[in-house]
Amino acid sequence: MTEDPALLTTTTAPPVREWPALDLDGADFDPVLAELMREGPLTRIRLPHGEGWAWLATRYDDVRAVTNDPRFGRAEVTRRQVTRMAPHFKPRPGSLAFADQPDHNRLRKAVAGAFTVAAMKRLRPRAQRLLDDLVDGVVRDGPPADLIERVLEPFPLAVVSEVMGVPAEDRERVHSWTREIISTTGAEAAGRAKEGLYGWIAETIRARAGGTGEDVYALLGAAVGRGEISEEEAVGLAGPLQIGGEAVTHNCGQMLFLMLTDPELLRATRALGPGARGPVLDELLRYIPHRSSVGLARIALEDVEVAGHRIAAGEPVYVSYLAANRDPEVFPDPDRVDVERAPNPHLAFGNGPHYCTGAVLARTQTELLVDTLLDRLPGLRLAVPADQVAWRRRTMIRGPRNLPVTW
Ligand code: HEM
Repeated sequence: MTEDPALLTTTTAPPVREWPALDLDGADFDPVLAELMREGPLTRIRLPHGEGWAWLATRYDDVRAVTNDPRFGRAEVTRRQVTRMAPHFKPRPGSLAFADQPDHNRLRKAVAGAFTVAAMKRLRPRAQRLLDDLVDGVVRDGPPADLIERVLEPFPLAVVSEVMGVPAEDRERVHSWTREIISTTGAEAAGRAKEGLYGWIAETIRARAGGTGEDVYALLGAAVGRGEISEEEAVGLAGPLQIGGEAVTHNCGQMLFLMLTDPELLRATRALGPGARGPVLDELLRYIPHRSSVGLARIALEDVEVAGHRIAAGEPVYVSYLAANRDPEVFPDPDRVDVERAPNPHLAFGNGPHYCTGAVLARTQTELLVDTLLDRLPGLRLAVPADQVAWRRRTMIRGPRNLPVTW
């Protein structure tokens, strides 16, 4: 990418490709994305909803360049009907994902303290206890068990509520709204649950105004009290964080499925021992197709050249972190899980200012989950043939609906 207009090339724009929402099983890589990657570094796509077309960047260097370049903005996306995956599109004020600088820094600063490496270190023993309780229940009841229902869904919900500071007496209510919102069935019920959850969040932040504490609701109450963010922004900030735990459920669901269907991978992971499995987890984070299609677009705020094409001011651009994670220039033999891959600078948590707020939290939970399940259930294996595991349908975040195991 360059800023020198003299270097702008006149490559003709590639054709606009339809990218339908596919229901894919297991860790199958989206064949449309694979085709787009073959077509060139920068292609044009039309997704099932919204209007018009958008550019798509798939190479590692271009994805990093676009996501680090302030000439591509997110706020403008909220004012447009950009071609997109999601049928409904109602961003709230305060949402980190749609904020540009300086608002993005101002908003992120309000909650950053709850997600630092040090905060996650303090959280770890409490998270381990929550997980041990769940696994104790599984062991007590004996095999078989559905790991999604018994561990992978309840654990991230409980941990997120710790980080957020949801009072014990409200947890059941908050978790049932969250489960409803993230379920892939019943848009109406999900809408009602969203109203319930956001109403509760507004009350909770109001109640904590001027309060002290290190949890997210205390930090937000204090930031509102100091006039750094508005109450509406605080609610818009908190919502996605409260719901964000589901990403761990589905990503770890895919991770365990891969381990339980590949004996060599499972053996290598077990052999490393607890606390030393980081490189395997990173390789799986790189490899796992975390989401369907692409996430949120960015809009060019001025003309920018990317991979020999001029992206004109006002045009939308998507990046695919999944594709960047399979770029052979950076990851030799990218379609193979290589537990010894080093270095492994994957982009599973994104890049640039919008880098995942919950990345350290998600990594911590993933480590705890894999270590605890492998070490406490020594003979862990699928209780059904791999092709009988049911996968999420019509979904943004991919993962197994259930994971029946025995040990
Ligand atoms: C953003 C991945 C877990 C909260 C993102 C982005 C990715 C991502 C790729 C987008 C970067 C972009 O827009 O360019 C993941 C993965 C997870 C995970 C793979 C689990 C394995 C979580 C958790 C939370 C969370 C547990 C919160 C509790 C967020 C938020 C954003 C975000 C708030 C928006 C950040 C911003 O725009 O500034 N995540 N995430 N994520 N994630 Fe995560």
